Amino acid sequence: MKIKSFAPGKVILFGEHSVVHNRPAIAMAIDKGVDVELNSRDDNIITVTIPVINYSEKLFLLDNMIDYNHIHNNMITDYVLEVISLFKFDKGFDLEVNINMPLGVGLGSSAAVTVSCMKAISLYANEDYDLETIAQKSRNIEIAIQGAASPIDTSMSTYGGIIYINHESKLNRIDFDMQLPIIISDCNIEANTGKLVESVRLKYVEYPEIMTNIFDAMGLIADNAKIALEEGNSESLANLMNLNQGLLDSIGVNTFELSDMVFTARKFGALGSKLTGSGGGGCIIAYAPDNTEEILRQLNLKYKAFKCEESKKGVQAQIIK
Ligand code: PMV
Repeated sequence: MKIKSFAPGKVILFGEHSVVHNRPAIAMAIDKGVDVELNSRDDNIITVTIPVINYSEKLFLLDNMIDYNHIHNNMITDYVLEVISLFKFDKGFDLEVNINMPLGVGLGSSAAVTVSCMKAISLYANEDYDLETIAQKSRNIEIAIQGAASPIDTSMSTYGGIIYINHESKLNRIDFDMQLPIIISDCNIEANTGKLVESVRLKYVEYPEIMTNIFDAMGLIADNAKIALEEGNSESLANLMNLNQGLLDSIGVNTFELSDMVFTARKFGALGSKLTGSGGGGCIIAYAPDNTEEILRQLNLKYKAFKCEESKKGVQAQIIK
């Protein structure tokens, strides 16, 4: 038996950081993510291969489970082993995890790995988790490994689409017809989300009134962007991205490289561009319905840029007998 699964990564379109302070945000699942292939075996061996990091491991089933001590190595493998340790199996399997997206730059790669593995492995273990269970258990794994995790990444990988996160952290899908061609550019500097969230909190402690106004403005931007998406208003969407970028700069999460990418994208024709995720490194997004190839070429002279679109679908799997 062979099982193949895919789960998408994500970008935050609007509202990073302010979402931590209970303002709304918008995130989009992208058509880049993690493909998993599981092949059944007739013995009690489980092999795990992750080609992109040259990882391979052999595990043995003991009383139908792996002997796993939950000690984490700060690697993407932690997520895979946590998923495997949830289940009981009659027989072993070979698991190959292909991460077809940048790792560790705020695009939700760890959630996509966890969710894609959860789908394939739950099917193999005859449990076939529904989406709600996949999202919940995947988030629990992110919390166990990272200490804290918002539900955004695991929800986007599970459900796909574009999601509006309201001020109470409730997630609602936004339905719209508009094409949303996005360029992602990665500056190749790892971002430390925890440190950046803390630096913003300290600014809030120092300047509560100013920061409250900035967070409120970021929240209004997300609310207006939801309307722009629903109305198919691309000009407004782009303007709101640029406004959001200015405010992210003001709270200290922008960097020279992120700015350089933002202005390069705008100079060569992007209508809107902003950092995405925690900032301090990582990626920008540019909304560029035209001139896409030239913007990509210019960004790729110094950085790693690629095109993406919304993934309307979340996690999915197929069984190939
Ligand atoms: O860089 P990412 O994808 O981990 O996004 C972080 C987004 C923040 O708003 C800064 C933190 C959060 O948990 O929402």
